[in-house]
Amino acid sequence: MPVMVPSIDRHVFFWGGFSLLEDGFPLVFFFLSAFYYIMEQELQRLAAESSKALESLETVEQLEEFRIRYLGRKGQFSTIMRQLGSVAKEDRPRIGQLANSLKKDLEEAFEIKQAALRAVSAKNGDRPDLTLPGRRPQNGTLHPVTRVMNEACAIFESLGFSVAEGPDVETDYYNFEALNIPAHHPARDMHDTFYVSDSTLLRTHTSPMQARIMTSQQPPLRVIAPGKVYRCDSDITHTPMFHQLEGFLVDRAVSFADLKGVLSVFTEKMFGRKLALRFRPSYFPFTEPSAEVDIACVMCDGGGCRVCKKTGWLEILGAGMIDPEVFTMVGYDAEVYSGFAFGLGIERIAMLKYGISDIRMFYENDLRFLEQF
Ligand code: DAH
Repeated sequence: MPVMVPSIDRHVFFWGGFSLLEDGFPLVFFFLSAFYYIMEQELQRLAAESSKALESLETVEQLEEFRIRYLGRKGQFSTIMRQLGSVAKEDRPRIGQLANSLKKDLEEAFEIKQAALRAVSAKNGDRPDLTLPGRRPQNGTLHPVTRVMNEACAIFESLGFSVAEGPDVETDYYNFEALNIPAHHPARDMHDTFYVSDSTLLRTHTSPMQARIMTSQQPPLRVIAPGKVYRCDSDITHTPMFHQLEGFLVDRAVSFADLKGVLSVFTEKMFGRKLALRFRPSYFPFTEPSAEVDIACVMCDGGGCRVCKKTGWLEILGAGMIDPEVFTMVGYDAEVYSGFAFGLGIERIAMLKYGISDIRMFYENDLRFLEQF
């Protein structure tokens, strides 16, 4: 039965018909009409198949596949229409018309479907894509200087020290005079002071807090005073503003050994291991004796490296026994009381703790640097 012939065999079937021409006209006619019949059937089948396929499309990408498969130049409609020439002349217009109208219907349906799918896809584009990974909020972190300052305070607080804060804009009296640094004293030279007026300045160290506390409170005292200090200086190890932590203890019979004990506990807790301490004789007008305190280099453990300049030691603070002259100035009996004091640079400790080579990085506010803490 011609109707049963699958579309791919149609040509064979049709050409077979021609080869049988000499066998007589009726046979040829039979074949031709069979072919015409097949074409009409095929067009109807294709129309049904394609409109069903169109309905099932779900994405814009599938639209294009569909277009190529059915409506494209090499698509199924074109393929059938190319065979129109083989249809009997009198049937050709009818079949042609049928093919055109079916194709046109499909094209219209296609456009409607295309518009609908595009609308859905645009709308989805505006909606949040719930499958995307969430955006993490950018949490801030503590500045490394704040971290080390907090840690240092916590260590001294655990040793019974209480925290006191004083003004950044300080009087010449507390910053220098009360600390045994009178006008024209050569020690003033080292302080590169920012003066606000003749008698006020930006404090050059936290030591004025010793004088402030001692003039207002009686011993025994165990106090730390953290804060900002200012000096007109800027290079790889100096910034015009930096942080210090002052500490002092006043009581009866305080010795240098007490100072050493407190500083040993501090360095061990701050750097996470026991580090050798070295007290080098030095001079500060408000302590006697005075020392500069070194720790064994945290980078090479004392072996000698670039950071400690091959010495194996790193200077971390100044300290000493409070000068009786200072006690007298604040009204304490220097025969009864003794005490120690120390002052350390927070940036310096943070640099050693985190291996930072340029102090200015703390104040450039580069997030790539700051986010690491
Ligand atoms: N105030 C000194 C400075 O900034 C550091 C210092 C040295 C503080 C010895 C002290 C001390 O309390 O006893 O250079």
